[in-house]
Amino acid sequence: MANPRSLIVLSLAFVFMINSALATAVTYNVASLGAKANGKTDSTKAFLSAWAKACASVKPVVIYVPAGRFLLRNVVFSGPCKNNAITFRIAGTLVAPSNYRVIGNADNWIFFQHVNGVTISGGILDGQGTALWACKASGKSCPSGATTLGFSNSNNIKVSGLISLNSQMFHIVVNGCHNVKMDGVRVSASGNSPNTDGIHVQMSSGVTILNSKIATGDDCVSIGPGTSNLWIENVACGPGHGISIGSLGKDQQEAGVQNVTVKTVTFTGTQNGLRIKSWGRPSTGFARNILFQHAVMINVQNPIVIDQNYCPGKKGCPGQVSGVRISDVTYQDIHGSSATEVAVKFDCSSKYPCSKIRLENVKLTYKNQVAVATCSHAGGTAAGMVQPTSCL
Ligand SMILES: *[C@@H]1O[C@H](CO)[C@@H](O)[C@H](O)[C@H]1NC(C)=O
Repeated sequence: MANPRSLIVLSLAFVFMINSALATAVTYNVASLGAKANGKTDSTKAFLSAWAKACASVKPVVIYVPAGRFLLRNVVFSGPCKNNAITFRIAGTLVAPSNYRVIGNADNWIFFQHVNGVTISGGILDGQGTALWACKASGKSCPSGATTLGFSNSNNIKVSGLISLNSQMFHIVVNGCHNVKMDGVRVSASGNSPNTDGIHVQMSSGVTILNSKIATGDDCVSIGPGTSNLWIENVACGPGHGISIGSLGKDQQEAGVQNVTVKTVTFTGTQNGLRIKSWGRPSTGFARNILFQHAVMINVQNPIVIDQNYCPGKKGCPGQVSGVRISDVTYQDIHGSSATEVAVKFDCSSKYPCSKIRLENVKLTYKNQVAVATCSHAGGTAAGMVQPTSCL
């Protein structure tokens, strides 16, 4: 047994270590910089002044947002910074202006660009998008709407325990980033809200999305061109349009998608489950080395779908063939119920048929009976129990 004296020395050393770790982080409370927690006073300036101090510091900085509602206009937190350890610790709620026109023509409401080492911990982002959705539904001319939280050309980003509500457009967008971890994110918007994708990733590598719950009107997660080494695990989706790779192949010259893992996901009442879609037109794009593993489908309209004939509004593509090459896509341990008879649909490009599609232990039913699988220009193998019977 250690003698009492060495125990005391040890615990003193421990206390000292904790204190010095905290002491090295400087904290700026936005309320001390003029932000008002009343939900009505524009607090943008206070946040920008906290950011300016944090960005100029060489020490780790915590920007603290206390409880309460803080009204923010569209705001850009720009780097490069001297600092590579800035944490937003948010106890309260950031609220977008209730008049959607104030931020509706900005691409993003809260935007980070050219930053390295930014963490957002906790907090609620309330995009107040419902009036803009209603405007869009009425057919009037409306602004397209802002993404709630955007990261562009940034590295080493962490987002944890964040709640995003009622975004005008996409909730979270990661574009041109490397090493991004999202954990315990919750997205909530109504099932018929337009283009309110939960998390959109493109032109980025090393993005991880864990332990999250996404309910929205469009894709829960959408994976755009130029995404590689993406890991999605333990995500619940619904309502929404599922987890989608695509749309790919909109542009003639386009970066591909590779090495994507989607595991332990649940889809409840969604339009799609695991989807890959590409425009039906020429492109250099591709999707390869994709693993879909351990998925539960509860009353999903298209549980497993590859659609290479996407042509919204039948404009700019009818009659053309997708140039996007899809290969090495594995579906492993996928089970549950389809809301339509066709539970598995591989509708691939006639010029570049899907190849090395693998189905392993897939069981999908329709009204408690056998469902149907349809294939067009799709090649691959089936292993283990596969229901509906594979058409590969
Ligand atoms: C695929 O991506 C994962 C992260 O999602 C990474 O750990 C792994 O090394 C990547 N594999 C290859 C071959 O790049």
